[in-house]
Amino acid sequence: MKSILVLNGPNLNLLGIREPEQYGSHTLADVETLCRETGKRLGVEVSCLQSNHEGELVEAIHSVRQGVLDGSALGVVFNAGAYTHTSIALHDAIKGSEVPVIEVHISNVHARESFRHHSYLSPVAAGIIVGLGAEGYVLGIEALVRRS
Ligand code: DQA
Repeated sequence: MKSILVLNGPNLNLLGIREPEQYGSHTLADVETLCRETGKRLGVEVSCLQSNHEGELVEAIHSVRQGVLDGSALGVVFNAGAYTHTSIALHDAIKGSEVPVIEVHISNVHARESFRHHSYLSPVAAGIIVGLGAEGYVLGIEALVRRS
């Protein structure tokens, strides 16, 4: 069975508590359950990881490279949180590893503060899903399955 990593960055462990008007009432556990159920429906194995640390996110992207090369992994559905707007290291990790990444944002970052309008990940992402709430993760998994 092919695999997909759902990767969440800083502060997404606070989903459900944090700014519910922006991010809704789903907890991270709810989102991860939804992702695993989506995987079951589509016949792919979904694993989930959340980290508040940039280097751990870099290493998580690297860890998928071998699977992409040997055909056992489809890629990563990635909400990098605020690192989206700051991290050249994550840009380089995606570009250098050649891992297909679907960038997801729960909120519509373009309708928010201007510092959220720029993404270092978008130029190296295989696709971008913005502003569709937790459903964005489901669409990201579906996109990786369809493009494979
Ligand atoms: C976010 C948007 C980012 O600007 C923010 O820093 C987050 C969450 C989103 O899912 O809408 O932490 O990536």
